[in-house]
Amino acid sequence: MEPQKKLVTLTVNGREVAEYVDVRESLLELLRNHLGLTSVKKGCEVGECGACTVIVDGETIDSCIYLAVWAQGKQIRTLEGLMGPNGELTKIQEAFIEEGAIQCGFCTPGFIMSATVLLERGEQELTRDMIRKYMAGNLCRCTGYENIINAVQKADKERHS
Ligand code: FES
Ligand code: FES
Repeated sequence: MEPQKKLVTLTVNGREVAEYVDVRESLLELLRNHLGLTSVKKGCEVGECGACTVIVDGETIDSCIYLAVWAQGKQIRTLEGLMGPNGELTKIQEAFIEEGAIQCGFCTPGFIMSATVLLERGEQELTRDMIRKYMAGNLCRCTGYENIINAVQKADKERHS
């Protein structure tokens, strides 16, 4: 049986795109395979590791378990969209580098996207427990958690200074 295709129109990193997708395809596959946004990592593919985390209408989601067709009309942000016009990094990306919060780097885009939402939301200064709790859906196999939390806390402190 021929796969059923559907046209999906969505905004990705500020740019409107329209793609024909297989109705069974995930948003992860749309972003990586159709649009070449390879910061979106394919890890467990069952919503457990957070490597595929992207922002959909301001909320973090695991794009491996989110159908591409559900993204119709939505605003999607990936790590590629955080970069400034001249390749500038965001404060949270700089903090990850400064704190050595990257080992193999596979989990890093997902962590950065989760941290981005947390920092954009945060009215109050974040405690380590708050950061740990919010980032619980992102796993790091290199176990760099302490440095990751240090990095998020550093970026948060800069935001409040
Ligand atoms: S690849 Fe999506 S949660 Fe692991
Ligand atoms: S830095 Fe390797 S999985 Fe996190």
